[in-house]
Amino acid sequence: CEIDGLPADTSIRTVELIDGRAVSLTWAPDGGMGRVDPGWLRSMAEGRWRPEADIPERTPWEASGMPAPPTFDGPSVLSDDHALADFLHAAWTLGFARLRNLPTAPGTVLTVGERIGTVRSSNFGFMFSVETKPDPDSTAYTSVALDGHTDLATRETQPGLQLLHCRENTATGGASTMADGFAVAEAMRRETPAEFEAISTLKWVFTNRHRDTDYRFSGPIVELAGGGQVVEIRNTGFLRAYPDMADRDIPAAYQALRVFTAHCRSERFLCRTPFAPGDLVLFDNRRMLHGRDSFDPQSGHRRLEGCYLDRDEILSRLRILARRGRDVG
Ligand code: OGA
Ligand code: ZN
Repeated sequence: CEIDGLPADTSIRTVELIDGRAVSLTWAPDGGMGRVDPGWLRSMAEGRWRPEADIPERTPWEASGMPAPPTFDGPSVLSDDHALADFLHAAWTLGFARLRNLPTAPGTVLTVGERIGTVRSSNFGFMFSVETKPDPDSTAYTSVALDGHTDLATRETQPGLQLLHCRENTATGGASTMADGFAVAEAMRRETPAEFEAISTLKWVFTNRHRDTDYRFSGPIVELAGGGQVVEIRNTGFLRAYPDMADRDIPAAYQALRVFTAHCRSERFLCRTPFAPGDLVLFDNRRMLHGRDSFDPQSGHRRLEGCYLDRDEILSRLRILARRGRDVG
């Protein structure tokens, strides 16, 4: 029955150990009986029921501590659960991780995405291609530089994970950049508290309008949880449309945005890496600011494929890999 079918003054009346294997309970006031397994009791006592159990802590980083992305062998990650666990552990704690030596066949990015969990579709499809296009519906489909950004800031829930797989790259330029938005936010909290206050409270509207779609969302660039911890970065610069705030707050919002943007571009926070065919980068799209240098579209071809998943998928996979590790161990 549901909770409203139970007496309000329910309490444990007797507790008895059965064969050293289970605990038998009777309940007051109606004498109902129950039996619980010690494995369950132990997992309760150890806090394994908590969402954060088996999930490693996230560690913010600055460029001095990240000369290159944490890198793993793609084929091993596809075939071996231990290699997958190491890759996902790095991607979660540091916000990003790279695979090398993957095939360059179309759709490889989906194979890797499905190794983690359910791929999330968008108006760009289950998989999107990043290459120069005529009549582009996103700045991404040109050859211009992209400043550090999160994708789809126009959505209530931005995709939690993004995978970008390089299938071809003979163009000059176009290196990939990553900055840890959590580290940028923490630096602002320590060093420029007024700008931190503005970036984490004042909202902006992000908009993407095309012929058949019109996505909009209003939120702060740095999202804090109730306890003040940074939980999300939302900033697609090329989709940021309007300050959604009182007129008197607008100067402070722009000043905070200037500080934030300068950090995201500075050598202090940037990890820059060229994309080679067979490389794939997995990152937390609600934490990292990813970008690219401009490239010369006449010099050759640059072709990436990407897909999104929600954060839930990496968290679920990390729990399953930890559970299987315990069952074996
Ligand atoms: C994008 C993007 C990165 C790149 O398409 O949103 O960030 O390296 N592309 O082209
Ligand atoms: Zn992007």
